[in-house]
Amino acid sequence: MAWYPPEVVDEVRLRSDIVDVIGSYVKLRRAGSNFLGLCPFHSEKSPSFNVNPSLQLYKCFGCGVGGDVFTFIREYENFSFTEAVEFLAERSGMTISAGEMNEEQRKRESLRNQILEINKKTATYYYALLKSEYGRTGYEYLKNRGLSDSTMVHFGLGFARSGGVEMYKYLKHEGYSDEVLKETGLFKMEEREIRDKFRNRVMFPIMDVSNHVIGFGGRVMGDAKPKYLNSPETKVFDKGRNLYGLNYAKKGKKDAFLLCEGYMDVIAMHQAGFTNAVASLGTAFTENQANIIKRYVEQVLLLYDSDEAGKKAALRAIPILRKAGINGRVVSLAPYKDPDEFIKAEGKEAFEERLSGAVNGFFFEISVLKSGFDLSDPPQRTKFIHETAKKLLVFRDKVERDSYLEAVAAEHGIIKADLKDLVIRYGNSYTEGYQESRETYAERKTREEKQKKGIDYSYRLFLSWLIASPGLYSFIKEDVSAEDFLDETYRKAAGLLFGQLEKGELVPARIIDQFEEVESQSLVAGMFQTEFETKMSPEEREKAFTELVYKIKEYSIERRMRGLTDLNKLQELVKEKKKWQNPGNLHISLKDGERYT
Ligand code: UTP
Ligand code: MN
Repeated sequence: MAWYPPEVVDEVRLRSDIVDVIGSYVKLRRAGSNFLGLCPFHSEKSPSFNVNPSLQLYKCFGCGVGGDVFTFIREYENFSFTEAVEFLAERSGMTISAGEMNEEQRKRESLRNQILEINKKTATYYYALLKSEYGRTGYEYLKNRGLSDSTMVHFGLGFARSGGVEMYKYLKHEGYSDEVLKETGLFKMEEREIRDKFRNRVMFPIMDVSNHVIGFGGRVMGDAKPKYLNSPETKVFDKGRNLYGLNYAKKGKKDAFLLCEGYMDVIAMHQAGFTNAVASLGTAFTENQANIIKRYVEQVLLLYDSDEAGKKAALRAIPILRKAGINGRVVSLAPYKDPDEFIKAEGKEAFEERLSGAVNGFFFEISVLKSGFDLSDPPQRTKFIHETAKKLLVFRDKVERDSYLEAVAAEHGIIKADLKDLVIRYGNSYTEGYQESRETYAERKTREEKQKKGIDYSYRLFLSWLIASPGLYSFIKEDVSAEDFLDETYRKAAGLLFGQLEKGELVPARIIDQFEEVESQSLVAGMFQTEFETKMSPEEREKAFTELVYKIKEYSIERRMRGLTDLNKLQELVKEKKKWQNPGNLHISLKDGERYT
């Protein structure tokens, strides 16, 4: 795996003008100081894909993707970063040579890359076996389950033989050390030997959003246990941060994802044309997964198994989705067990119908709650109504809460006014702290959520402004540091940006390249290209920028104070916070600081 030193990467970037490169894929037209075109990553009729020549960044205001010239090539051509560097070097007629990494880089890079490389080789090997004489039982098993040849190819399905030494021998032959092979999770370390983990199973490679093979699932072809064997977590496989099928689902243009439990469910749905299906794969659905989904859609249809465990899993997932700002609805598959079985038995039209009959997540929660009570028994009925009132408090927005309240009251024959009284009562009993004695739990949550949204926007505005007017840095450098950004990605981006400004250079694209995942690159590209009002007078601009700094500082200090028990530290922070509540402490002169662009 080649590695190119930063100077080489810089040189390639310098010689690959973003407008020129992207312009060879996308028709761009000039719009002010930028260029506009139709986004190649989602389908659209009016152009929202923006290329900024002065920052050498792009950003789609429709689907949110963004990055620098390397990100674009990685996404468009499906290349790794290294491949993108090589591709662009060749395009601009450069001959580049790989450099020497330092010890730490080499270790980190090479382990990750080697695992990915091994996974890819392993997947290819399993895949070839499936089509060979040795893989016949596997191939027939999958055929019997209704998978077409092209579906098998699409998902890279494969076969692992029963010998237990084949993969190990093959990969040793390819030159990998035991030390590295151990890190792949593909082997079992037995007393005296190393053996293949997957034996006599059909194999499902698990891919990340960028199509790297990060792990495997293997299914027995009969009833043996465990039914599925999965790769353990490794340096490249974090189960809670991946969704099976996302590499394909993300390309779809649908406004919802279909979330299910299993490999076969995803595959069966994709085969039937529901290419927006993803699975959380055995592990319980996580907040991270919800946040990943939120990057693509705001709606999720839950298609968990129809059994008790599936129902429980759906009940767990709904609040997690809600917290991420996703509207979750539940699809009933009864009397079938899961999407795979449903589609096989009833076909895709019937499936489509079930999807359109999805039940709102909250109504689903209430109906499950209801099934636990005997409503003909007055005490139980009372209890049910009280529990319903408590549940309604999850809606932080009063209007939203009231509309749910109304619907639930009507559906279950509860007197609306009674339910409302209860909601207010429970709402107040969640009150915290004397200062907030009038703020209900729900209201506090709303406030915090708004604040978080507002602060993210402030961060983006601040960073974009600083990039547009690097001279402003000297006014804030004493006061604002990367630590004031209370989000990992923002913190890292701000730190790198401050580092550049400190050295008097500004190459935003170089910062983008410090983030490994294209997803993070998109996020950072967005931070650097947030549009802000430029039609203000210098005084207004001065005021606006100053307020931005105050807001970031105040929030940062407030958050640091939270949960602090050390009184001295607390006092210090209180003092510092006071300072940031008193305007006039920061003197910014735009005349010197701003470079009007
Ligand atoms: P299910 O038991 O519902 O299996 O597990 P399934 O998806 O219907 O599988 P088929 O149709 O019988 O082939 C759902 C998911 O849970 C994980 C797998 O990801 C599976 O797809 N699982 C299940 C395991 O990891 N290990 C197991 O032993 C069973
Ligand atoms: Mn199944």
